[in-house]
Amino acid sequence: MITVTKKPEMNDTIVRLCAMDDIPEEGSNGFLVETTEGRFGTLVVRKKTKIFVYKNSCPHIGTPLDIKAGQFLTLDKSRIICSTHGALFRIEDGYCVSGPCAGSSLLALSAMIYDDEIFINLPKPKGFGLKKVY
Ligand code: FES
Repeated sequence: MITVTKKPEMNDTIVRLCAMDDIPEEGSNGFLVETTEGRFGTLVVRKKTKIFVYKNSCPHIGTPLDIKAGQFLTLDKSRIICSTHGALFRIEDGYCVSGPCAGSSLLALSAMIYDDEIFINLPKPKGFGLKKVY
């Protein structure tokens, strides 16, 4: 995550994901990104002014991680947890420290903060284009 001083130029690659206020200060939320190639989920964790954004897909078998919609953290809020088989991931880098996919990592999406808005940089295969975020 980086904080930028100029508003990112929106295009097919850089999109506004949400506002900082959409994420509890020590919590998480999830958003769907719809593109011309299909849609995928994102998970966002906020630790005060820092945010961490990952694709919402467990490296074990590819399922979404949510415990409930938008909730990805253990009770003590120290790790991201997968609701399917309980894998635990470090918030800071998405590395799996325990569970059936130990040693693998969540796919990190590069994120920027500008004026309390969160933008992400999408992967851009040929023909990829943003339709909406929700
Ligand atoms: S699907 Fe996440 S731990 Fe199995």
